[in-house]
Amino acid sequence: MKLCIRYFTKSKKGNTKKLSDFISNRLNLEALDVSFDLEEDVDYLILVNALYANNIDKEVKTFLENNKERISNVVNVCSSASGKSTYKKVKKECDRLGINIIDDEYHTKASWIFINKDRPNEDDFNRLAIFIDNIKEKSDLNG
Ligand SMILES: Cc1cc2nc3c(=O)[nH]c(=O)nc-3n(C[C@H](O)[C@H](O)[C@H](O)COP(=O)(O)O)c2cc1C
Repeated sequence: MKLCIRYFTKSKKGNTKKLSDFISNRLNLEALDVSFDLEEDVDYLILVNALYANNIDKEVKTFLENNKERISNVVNVCSSASGKSTYKKVKKECDRLGINIIDDEYHTKASWIFINKDRPNEDDFNRLAIFIDNIKEKSDLNG
């Protein structure tokens, strides 16, 4: 089954880009930012995003809106300073657009201004590796 990676990164820390690059290496699959629309149908879209002002960014919403016909399942991967997940925000958008979002998700604390200076750290990336390997297995099993 086809997997695809899209990310949106905003802060100078580039935490979302770091998480995306890690996933990209793990899956040996290119990670593009959300300004790149999907060119073909995907079974699992790994959507790497972050919490900004307690919400997801409009670029992420626009990407979902513009690509809804091509996406079977969204896999949410995110970071925030508080450790709060964007899952509910992304799910709300997916529900509105008629896209499925899988229950499993990954979220981590990440650096912002002076807090969580060393995050995501080695443990966070190790957890991400396990999460992504499970998604890969799920996608291989299904097809
Ligand atoms: C403009 C801005 C607003 C943010 N608002 C929140 C917030 O409301 N809650 C939170 O937990 N983290 C917040 N953060 C922290 C980010 O979620 C965190 O730093 C994330 O890893 C940023 O990813 P990025 O470096 O890829 O942009 C905010 C960061 C920025 C830059």
